Amino acid sequence: MMLKTKKDKKIFVTSPLLPDIEDVYSEIREIFDSKWLTNMGEKHKSLELALKNELKVKNLSLFNNGTIALVTAIKALNLPYGSEVITTPFTFAATPHSIVWNGLKPVFCDIEPNTMTIDPNKIEELITPNTSAILGVHVYGFPCDVEAIQKIADKHGLKVIYDAAHCFSTEINGRGIGTFGNISAFSFHATKLFNTIEGGALTYNDDSLDRKIYNLRNFGIRNEEVVEEVGINGKMNEFQAAFGLLNLKIYRKEQEKRQKLKELYDNKLSKIKGIRIPKIPDNVTNSYQYYPIIIEDDYPISRNEIYDRFKEENIFTRKYFYPACTDYDCYKNDLSVKLAKLPVTNNLKNKVLCLPYYGSLEKETAEYIIYKLQNGMN
Ligand SMILES: Cc1ncc(COP(=O)(O)O)c(C=O)c1O
Repeated sequence: MMLKTKKDKKIFVTSPLLPDIEDVYSEIREIFDSKWLTNMGEKHKSLELALKNELKVKNLSLFNNGTIALVTAIKALNLPYGSEVITTPFTFAATPHSIVWNGLKPVFCDIEPNTMTIDPNKIEELITPNTSAILGVHVYGFPCDVEAIQKIADKHGLKVIYDAAHCFSTEINGRGIGTFGNISAFSFHATKLFNTIEGGALTYNDDSLDRKIYNLRNFGIRNEEVVEEVGINGKMNEFQAAFGLLNLKIYRKEQEKRQKLKELYDNKLSKIKGIRIPKIPDNVTNSYQYYPIIIEDDYPISRNEIYDRFKEENIFTRKYFYPACTDYDCYKNDLSVKLAKLPVTNNLKNKVLCLPYYGSLEKETAEYIIYKLQNGMN
């Protein structure tokens, strides 16, 4: 089997969701007419309201990107300076970095083998008198075990933060994923299912966090004469918000296309010896953000070899998440990282591979990817 697009076109793991360009022009015209480019304008207000409904959350604050949102979430909880936050090493750099940017210490906990999220059974042994919070990541849209984590947090008086960058629109038993824990942080980066080019949001149930988060996002400025605290500039601008309003109208269609692609991949790949497809629980709605597969030891070649062979054909899969955060130069020399017991992470980081996954991926390309995997990449 030959791929027509081979060599002449690069296939990436994702492709950004783009609204109709004429609609973008018309949004930009409105922004130009209003002469209000940023600082919580009309587009910003509309998107905040629309997303609150879409994500079924009580409170939502927009941000200029997901990382600043996450940094602000941690800051808003007033955790004691230097305290420890238990988190996962199987995530994007922004997760532990956000802890460190707050003057706190990430303590890395191993993950659960199917969902690849922080393993609640391994959290309690890491709790010390210095622990202040748990930061879980709903990685690839697989929700953390939110119930078990909340139980542990309540027992030990800890705050719970979720990095929800991968799970736009995910619900557990009909409840919005952004309503669990104290605060959840979403990313609306161009690579995410729903994007505002760059962007993000915090969601939270506690109304009293609203003022704090507003302040932290806007230099701490309350009004012309009052600066209440040491805030940062985390504001989403009107262009980002307008882009989001347009993408909000089309992301469900994109999900439907990805669902079909998932069915195609699932049907064929689940029959291949040595390939495991992690399963999303029945009570969870899929965000369709990523399509990760696990290359087990009984597949003829390794994950890295599969990655290299696809790359030779201009198909760019992703070893997402390799390296683990605990392998980064900025973390690996810390004594607690050296001593951390992370067998599942250290196994899966060498086995997971995210396949190209977006609505406009041609069926022929998906079938070629399947064909190569069925044939041991020969
Ligand atoms: C798990 C995770 N957390 C945080 C982020 C950071 O979001 P942003 O790129 O919007 O800053 C990303 C991705 O970009 C992510 O994948």
